[in-house]
Amino acid sequence: MPCIKIENLTHTYFPGTPLETAALQDISLTVDQGETLALAGATGSGKSTLVRHLNGLLAPTAGRVRILDGDVADKKFRRQLWRRVGLVFQFPERQIFSATVHEDIAFGPRNTGLAGQALSERVSQAAAAVGLPEDMLRTDPAELSGGMLRRAAIAGVLAMHPDILILDEPGAGLEPRARESILQRIKELQVSQGTTVILITHQLDDAALYADRLALLKKGRLLAVGPTAEILSRCDLLDEAGLEPPFTVELTRRLAAAGINLPKTPLNPAEAARLLAVML
Ligand SMILES: Nc1ncnc2c1ncn2[C@@H]1O[C@H](COP(=O)(O)OP(=O)(O)O)[C@@H](O)[C@H]1O
Ligand SMILES: [Mg+2]
Repeated sequence: MPCIKIENLTHTYFPGTPLETAALQDISLTVDQGETLALAGATGSGKSTLVRHLNGLLAPTAGRVRILDGDVADKKFRRQLWRRVGLVFQFPERQIFSATVHEDIAFGPRNTGLAGQALSERVSQAAAAVGLPEDMLRTDPAELSGGMLRRAAIAGVLAMHPDILILDEPGAGLEPRARESILQRIKELQVSQGTTVILITHQLDDAALYADRLALLKKGRLLAVGPTAEILSRCDLLDEAGLEPPFTVELTRRLAAAGINLPKTPLNPAEAARLLAVML
């Protein structure tokens, strides 16, 4: 069942001024309840603009966006969307400003009226979900490592118990192991809670590992959307979107050039190894 329906969405920043920018043009896309959709495209392709329509920050210039049970054209609905659609911005730790990690994670849920024991439990639960140790909750965010700080920022959004979770480049600037661990936690959450996840990334390796479907944006237009394996096996599309293929796709391409044709495109190194072992 779709929980997001985007129909012919167009967004123009500063229309009718010298700064006019056509950021999105005629995008139609649905997102199903409980799926993980990866959204990929080069810098400036419109990824962030698109998701800002999903949590009430932007209204369409033209077209229609329906989320859960409402239409974002309805101002009242749009204003309360932040409670239900969690958006983790790119480099979210820049927005951390509280004296303790606990306070920072508690900020959102406290604004919805949660207090006392219930609030503390909510914070602990969100911290656990992203793998943030309980004792770090009492520390000053300034003392955390980059990876832990990123986890704290994500926990702050999770603590709102959003129906839909949107992450804008959640692994950007982190070392591979921290990135992997965070994405793995998000995947677990999606599986156990049935949360709908939209993952913005320009690293298609992440999409290969974690997304059910993949949408490619190019210069504000939707280039393609479909099951991750299907889109990733289309090298022409990845080239057109200006994106590097995932490691396993590149490997498959090079093996084929050497006369070794794998029966299908593997999406992770373990699967690649299995397919190769059978062939060799
Ligand atoms: N707040 C803004 N005001 C004006 N133009 C913007 C704003 N945010 C993005 N843009 C422009 O809209 C286009 C899409 O940008 P963006 O959605 O940030 O792409 P992405 O997230 O894929 O890098 C770009 O041309 C960008 O310069
Ligand atoms: Mg962006």
